Amino acid sequence: MVKIRKYRASDRKAVQNVCLDTSVGRNADSFLTRYILTLYCNYYIETEPENCFVAVDENDVPIGYCICSSDYDKFEREFMKNYMPRISGCGLKYVIYTKGEIAAHRMFRKDFPAHLHIDIIDEYQRQGIGRRLLDALFEHLEENNVSGLALICNTNNKGAVKFYEKYGFTLLMRFNAIIEDFSIYGYVI
Ligand SMILES: CC(C)(COP(=O)(O)OP(=O)(O)OC[C@H]1O[C@@H](n2cnc3c(N)ncnc32)[C@H](O)[C@@H]1OP(=O)(O)O)[C@@H](O)C(=O)NCCC(=O)NCCS
Repeated sequence: MVKIRKYRASDRKAVQNVCLDTSVGRNADSFLTRYILTLYCNYYIETEPENCFVAVDENDVPIGYCICSSDYDKFEREFMKNYMPRISGCGLKYVIYTKGEIAAHRMFRKDFPAHLHIDIIDEYQRQGIGRRLLDALFEHLEENNVSGLALICNTNNKGAVKFYEKYGFTLLMRFNAIIEDFSIYGYVI
């Protein structure tokens, strides 16, 4: 039985593995791996672990997560200071992707100050775990008086688009970064 609980420091490696397994794999080149982990994982588990939830298997090992920043202004300040330098060393393409995501979140920060990333490994998808992770996160954000949350999704990721729309997210905007189309969705808490 999969359980949902708060993230712990001991989950770090397993959460990083879920991040890679659900994106570029564990054998991608070192720049791509560093970019993915820096932008989509490490900021959240290092800087805002209190806003991160994991789905764990019967051995208490994470098989999915929902990791969040509850405050856009804090995210931009801390990310630019402590994380952007790591991405800058990965190449211009990754800098442009990162700045595109940051600019999109900045546009909607007043109504949607929080944002998240959610990933579940293949064999546990379509079992209601994503929905349970979002339920846990939103309950936590509501308790902390966070008014809204945004997320960015590759528009071609049809399964994720269906998942967010089914959950009740609203499309705020579509934008293009290099050759990829992204959609930013919002949810009022
Ligand atoms: C997208 C993701 C987080 C959804 O989590 P999940 O646990 O698989 O989703 P749930 O089982 O909670 O789905 C809830 C509902 O969303 C919809 N849904 C979820 N995945 C879907 C898919 N691939 N295709 C169509 N609808 C889907 C369905 O309506 C589903 O209800 P149902 O199964 O009763 O029909 C998960 O599949 C995942 O991690 N995918 C790979 C990584 C990824 O794309 N992350 C998001 C990046 S933006």
